[in-house]
Amino acid sequence: MTKRILITGANRGVGLALVEALAADAEQVYAGCRAPTAAAELQAIAEACGNITVLPLDVDDADALAEAAASVDVPIDLLVCNAGVLNGYGGLDSEENALEAESMAAFAAVLQTNIAGPFFTVKAFWQHLQKSPKAAVAIVSSQMGSQQHEAANAYAYRASKAGVNNIMITLSHELDAAAIAVAAYHPGWVRTAMGGPGAHLSTEQSAQWLAQRFAELDMSRSGRFINFDGEDLAL
Ligand SMILES: NC(=O)c1ccc[n+]([C@@H]2O[C@H](COP(=O)([O-])OP(=O)(O)OC[C@H]3O[C@@H](n4cnc5c(N)ncnc54)[C@H](OP(=O)(O)O)[C@@H]3O)[C@@H](O)[C@H]2O)c1
Repeated sequence: MTKRILITGANRGVGLALVEALAADAEQVYAGCRAPTAAAELQAIAEACGNITVLPLDVDDADALAEAAASVDVPIDLLVCNAGVLNGYGGLDSEENALEAESMAAFAAVLQTNIAGPFFTVKAFWQHLQKSPKAAVAIVSSQMGSQQHEAANAYAYRASKAGVNNIMITLSHELDAAAIAVAAYHPGWVRTAMGGPGAHLSTEQSAQWLAQRFAELDMSRSGRFINFDGEDLAL
């Protein structure tokens, strides 16, 4: 057991299941979420486990990231950038966009959270990572971001995940000298608010797969885009 782990978007979905799965074999898990007082399920898990610290963390808010980083006074061995948003599956046809999924504001918000969010999270916790003897960054991306994916919709989301994969590559280059491994992961199609009830995997299944992947993340895998089952994915 090595790990001091920080996870963003930890109050529900894949993030919440990751907290539970990773806490089983961690020294301490820092579970970041936007509204800790409203995160009843996470708070209950934290109480039951004893090695989970819930902290306020909005990846769109520079001050919140700085405050979260200042509140963590130990090295971070694994930083999991999981927080993300999907603004629907809209295309060019506005008739399909009842929620104005591809309005300019919605488009920009998705890019902000899904691309800039992980980048600024890593920037906020970079010094914590440097203090670890063996640090790694896992970015929860999506196969939807692959250039090989055949979707003909979800422009903002797809672009955001392609963008964060590019951030992952650049981070892997910059952090190579510090021996900090960085990789992006597809968690599978998961039954969450985002994935919907018809998805293939439960959150627990996805988290178990991802926990295995994160355990093998070292410099030999840095810069790669990896499926939940361990297969390499096309960027
Ligand atoms: N579900 C799937 O099938 C699937 C497939 C591929 C990739 N993914 C990726 O997996 C990750 C988790 O998705 P999910 O299915 O668990 O989605 P989800 O159930 O919708 O949960 C999203 C999480 O991200 C948090 N979040 C959103 N914006 C945030 C912000 N600005 N700052 C901090 N937290 C923020 C949410 O917090 P609030 O409760 O405060 O909104 C929530 O905890 C995402 O990156 C997603 O793109 C999911």
